[in-house]
Amino acid sequence: MIFSPVTRLRGEVKVPGDKSISHRSVMFGSIARGTTEITGFLPGADCLSTISCFKNMGVAIEQDGEHVLVHGSGLYGLKAPEKVLDCGNSGTTTRLISGILAGQDFDVTLTGDASIQKRPMRRIIDPLTQMGASISSIPGNGCAPLAIRGQRLHGIHYNSPVASAQVKSAILLAGLYAEGKTCVTEPYVSRNHSELMLNYFGADVQTEGTTACLHPGKELCARPVNVPGDISSAAFFLAAGLIVPHAEILIRNVGINPTRDGIIRVCREMGGDITLLNEDFHSAEPTADILVRHKSLHGTEIGGAIIPTLIDELPVLAAMACFAEGTTIIRDAAELKVKESNRIAVMVHHLTAMGADVEETEDGMIIHGGKPLHGALIDSHLDHRIAMTFAVAALNAEGQTEITGAECVNISYPNFYQDLKKLSQ
Ligand code: S3P
Repeated sequence: MIFSPVTRLRGEVKVPGDKSISHRSVMFGSIARGTTEITGFLPGADCLSTISCFKNMGVAIEQDGEHVLVHGSGLYGLKAPEKVLDCGNSGTTTRLISGILAGQDFDVTLTGDASIQKRPMRRIIDPLTQMGASISSIPGNGCAPLAIRGQRLHGIHYNSPVASAQVKSAILLAGLYAEGKTCVTEPYVSRNHSELMLNYFGADVQTEGTTACLHPGKELCARPVNVPGDISSAAFFLAAGLIVPHAEILIRNVGINPTRDGIIRVCREMGGDITLLNEDFHSAEPTADILVRHKSLHGTEIGGAIIPTLIDELPVLAAMACFAEGTTIIRDAAELKVKESNRIAVMVHHLTAMGADVEETEDGMIIHGGKPLHGALIDSHLDHRIAMTFAVAALNAEGQTEITGAECVNISYPNFYQDLKKLSQ
């Protein structure tokens, strides 16, 4: 796809449902008693992979666009799938489902696409094994396909070396099937959607500081879930609104959970003009409309506890930093190397190709802002957030930017290009 700079960017946009919350609503609905009605569901490829996995385990799920009915099987009602479960491109599906499958009374093989088969799974294999699970990497390299043989589990207190909601959630979900309490302590707090939604469905999860503990023994009960718009998708419009002169964009109904709102804090820290309107709560999650207006930006330092709250937004923040005066330093973000692509290497390579002054570091990058960008040929590496990031950078780069594999946005935001285009007309 070819992108050109724009002179106008104004109007309203409603981003699709939050990916993390959409996955969890289907997973928790599947092991709850009763029917979970989901509205605002993200019908992107990743969440459809989650639906397909649970359908293959006998759960009746009716999906029509953003509306989903999950007829839960209860904690012990899943059935052995007849085939290998395919998690597609979705790390969340692979890791969270592994936690649920570890304690079933059947065996399963889990796999995914070429990117999933390169992503690290030892981070869940190790703690689940400590809980008594039998889970192994079939190729023996710590990656999928994974063979999981259901076992009796016992609770543990796991000190996670990484702040990862996928790891934390896999362990807590296994904890639903374990004897005794299960706790996870992380170096920094990662997104807490599992904790909030598990409690909303009637489970007993207590959180203190960077530790979350689940006490088993409670059934999950179906509850309606109204999924807020995804702040990780809204991030592309926040960046676009800040870098295109005279832009003004209102993004409706976005989740602003404090474990996800680092992008708003950093945009403001860089001088960005961002206003929250109509603050509200939906199914245990805080929401707001977000108004962003163009403003000149300055560099900043991003590291430490804020990193997990904006981990998926770092690619677009890096692009935004190219338009800011001064230097932006991103550190403590080595996790970016094991996302859908190596997002540090890919960002540095392509921003450099567009004329930016960027250095790669061990755990992030250093961006010397203020150099004008020009169009370039961008390979998305089939990473949805890379494709959307460069579509945004192209809005204020001289000449044309061509993005290959641009259709990968269907993972999290199938109508992204249409929504972006409408704002510029
Ligand atoms: C997610 C957690 C994050 C994030 C991913 C979704 C989740 O991964 O990058 O896009 O839904 O739990 P990690 O928890 O592994 O950092």
